[in-house]
Amino acid sequence: MNYQIQSIGEYEEAYKFSIENPEAFWAEIAYNFKWEKKWDNVLDWNFKEPNIKWFEGGTLNITENCLDRHLEILGNKTALIWEPNNPDDEIRTFTYNQLHKEVCRFANVLKNNGAKKGDRICIYMPMVPELAIAVLACARIGAIHSVVFGGFSAQSISDRIQDAQCSMVITADGAFRGAKEIALKPIMDEALVNCPSVNKVIVLERTKAKINMLKGRDVWWQDELAKANSDCPAEIMDAEDMLFILYTSGSTGKPKGVVHTCGGYMVYVGYTFANVFQYQPNEIFFCTADIGWVTGHSYIIYGPLLNGATSLMFEGVPNFPDAGRLWDIVAKHQVNILYTAPTAIRSLMQSGLDFVKGKNLNSLTKLGSVGEPINEEAWHWYSENIGKNNCPIADTWWQTETGGILISPIAGVTPTKPSYAMLPLPGIQPILVNEKGDEILGNNVSGNLCIKFPWPGMLRTTYGDHERCRLNYFATYENLYFTGDGCLRDADGHYRITGRVDDVLNVSGHRIGTAEVENAIDKHPDVIETAVVGYPHDIKGQGIYAFVICQKFPDDEAKTRTEILEIVTKEIGAFAKPDKIQFVNGLPKTRSGKIMRRILRKIAEGELENLGDITTLLDPGVVEDIKGGRL
Ligand code: PRX
Repeated sequence: MNYQIQSIGEYEEAYKFSIENPEAFWAEIAYNFKWEKKWDNVLDWNFKEPNIKWFEGGTLNITENCLDRHLEILGNKTALIWEPNNPDDEIRTFTYNQLHKEVCRFANVLKNNGAKKGDRICIYMPMVPELAIAVLACARIGAIHSVVFGGFSAQSISDRIQDAQCSMVITADGAFRGAKEIALKPIMDEALVNCPSVNKVIVLERTKAKINMLKGRDVWWQDELAKANSDCPAEIMDAEDMLFILYTSGSTGKPKGVVHTCGGYMVYVGYTFANVFQYQPNEIFFCTADIGWVTGHSYIIYGPLLNGATSLMFEGVPNFPDAGRLWDIVAKHQVNILYTAPTAIRSLMQSGLDFVKGKNLNSLTKLGSVGEPINEEAWHWYSENIGKNNCPIADTWWQTETGGILISPIAGVTPTKPSYAMLPLPGIQPILVNEKGDEILGNNVSGNLCIKFPWPGMLRTTYGDHERCRLNYFATYENLYFTGDGCLRDADGHYRITGRVDDVLNVSGHRIGTAEVENAIDKHPDVIETAVVGYPHDIKGQGIYAFVICQKFPDDEAKTRTEILEIVTKEIGAFAKPDKIQFVNGLPKTRSGKIMRRILRKIAEGELENLGDITTLLDPGVVEDIKGGRL
């Protein structure tokens, strides 16, 4: 990997060069990849429309870069290790040769079932190797994958399939997650009732649960594989052709399909994986995320494979069969790099050190954190008890929209500081702005985090609605990409992400829009209006607090609460269930009818004294009422 930065001096030099001459900087990195045809133009952009094009004129296939390119030298190296949910079950491993063969075979299955370049394919699967194979097989034939996390409900899947007009679905009979067995196919069947665009469903057998197969539409993965050969030349893609869609929550009730394209995404995730984690040949990289989220896309599949790394994927959850599971996996597979989320660290920290004791974690060289701010206590616990004060921690800040890591220490190369994501990677130009969009210069300041220059991994559009992309990310501040995050820059110029400044919650690292939860709760027949806010939660980072007005104050609060939780599970998924539901008679509204969330947030946080100016409220009396009923 010629693009690995190995000293602080090299970092500073690369950063300076990337600002002064971004096109030359990125071209130099892009040369490390296999292009069918090199680009004519490195970058063409404006943030106004926005119109962002990287490596135009270039053609490639990302799977040739993830697989074929490595076969000659690394063919027998392990590409993927799979650790099953049940630790007593057999692990599975795939060398680069084997993974290449499986991807090509399944790519032929897709073709045999009518899939072609440009089609959208929804993937709803457990964390088994076939999920990675399905993703790569789509990319192989130029179909656009839209992976939906296995925790989403039928309604959420249906919305996503309809939005992208998917023609095919890849799923499984069910999933094992910890002690639970989850039915996936029945949920998919329910989702598909409203999805006429789907004409083929490929079903993997995982749990052997009894399921229905619709004749003419549903086929078994294993049967189809038997009919396919493993010769499948990669479809040649334009750099700016779509690679995938991934839905994520914003401040409106409707999730957005974030679009990433082939060339830029490849260059960016390859570059960031090699640098942030300082991957060394023969190291084993374990990212605990689910492939249903962007972290799994970029740092279980694409980033590691682009670099010829060994990536470990885990089917289960950190606390099954007990809270020592992650440490058992590290010891069993001699994991070198562990990339996990603060919420997992906090929950394992709470389970106590007995689960860490006696586990051999000596193989670890580097640690990573992602998805939400990591509090100092969790950072120190991770560093001391897991890293044995010997592993740098990369607190990586990024988003679904950014494709890969933007602000993070480069492990062992640039400095770290608890709860700080530290410095931008070379090529990334963050700035802080005030409410009006003026840049806040100097250090020891805080503001809203924006990025002022494009990078290859950034989103290009939101599927089917470019205007939405513009309004969401490029219209708040002129000529800037707005992240939605608040941030401070300390005296040394190091960045600390302080959390969302919009109506987006981060619950256990899952991004949830308050409006989505409100819309779901409002479906309860007795509910008139709902306001949802976040509040600090010891383990989840943020908890969900819902203030609900019913037609008439519920006689049986517990019953209505249970019904509301069921509706949220049905509309979104169990992970979006509110932690607290308070029934109220009114909400604090301005005279123009806008809910003053600031006040509700303070009440949810328990800060009852300092609510700020409430005189502009239509009915200031409701505030006392709500304070009185606080849960
Ligand atoms: O608020 C930031 C938080 O997660 C948001 C992005 O969520 P999502 O698109 O689901 O992607 C998560 C995985 C990249 C951000 O806007 N976030 C992510 N990483 C960090 C973080 N907050 C603080 N520190 C981080 N390291």
